[in-house]
Amino acid sequence: MSRFLDPGSRDPQEDLVLAWELLYRIEPELYDRLARAERIHPGVVAWLPVGLGQIVEVGAGTGRLTLELIGRARRVVAVEPALQLRRVLQAKLAAAGHAGRVRVIHGFFDQLPLPDDFADLVVACSAFTPSPEHGGDAGLAEMERVCKPGGRVAIIWPNNLEWLAARGYGYVSFPGPMFVECGSVSEAADLAEIFYPQAAQEVRTRGWRRIPFEVLDINPPRDLAFKVLAV
Ligand SMILES: C[S@@+](CC[C@H](N)C(=O)[O-])C[C@H]1O[C@@H](n2cnc3c(N)ncnc32)[C@H](O)[C@@H]1O
Repeated sequence: MSRFLDPGSRDPQEDLVLAWELLYRIEPELYDRLARAERIHPGVVAWLPVGLGQIVEVGAGTGRLTLELIGRARRVVAVEPALQLRRVLQAKLAAAGHAGRVRVIHGFFDQLPLPDDFADLVVACSAFTPSPEHGGDAGLAEMERVCKPGGRVAIIWPNNLEWLAARGYGYVSFPGPMFVECGSVSEAADLAEIFYPQAAQEVRTRGWRRIPFEVLDINPPRDLAFKVLAV
């Protein structure tokens, strides 16, 4: 946790990075409710290759993407630094009967406890950023180190396309309307109150269960950046 503490700011009201890191550790189930609702565009999932031997996912969280990876490879390793999120992920995998198919381990982008040329696909979803505490150049180099020649590194829902393009990453985006898909109207109101306060009133007034991404000030999870490593 100490790597996420900026010495200049210790107030999660002011430091968004710290606020998210605290959320993962103090309220992992609440984070999971949000991640379940902010579903990844099916085009992104379909873009990922199938019939692989080994996939590594870094920053797996509570498994929004991990569960989609299971059918694509013989083995999946999910790397996640927050113990509380690993526990939620392990419980989900066990409930789905997949506990044996995914190895859930501790690690960071810039310290992956895995050998060179280990995986056919190394992927991160809503986790990698150019900042050193969430990847950066050292993290990208680590992802590429554990990826086999000819394999792919994919950054799903990237937050800085220019930075990735400058490092040789291509880009794909999938069209169509996208919604935050909540289980009920009251769940939508609750999640909006906590995570999208600027839209909370409109969500309540309109009685939305599916919140259009347009009314939120965030890009929808419809894109990815990727690199195919040279053979
Ligand atoms: C927004 S969550 C995304 C989780 C999951 N991939 C998903 O799509 O729901 C960001 C994740 O990145 C993880 N994370 C943060 N810093 C990291 C680092 N340096 N190395 C690896 N994972 C990190 C967090 O613990 C959290 O699980």
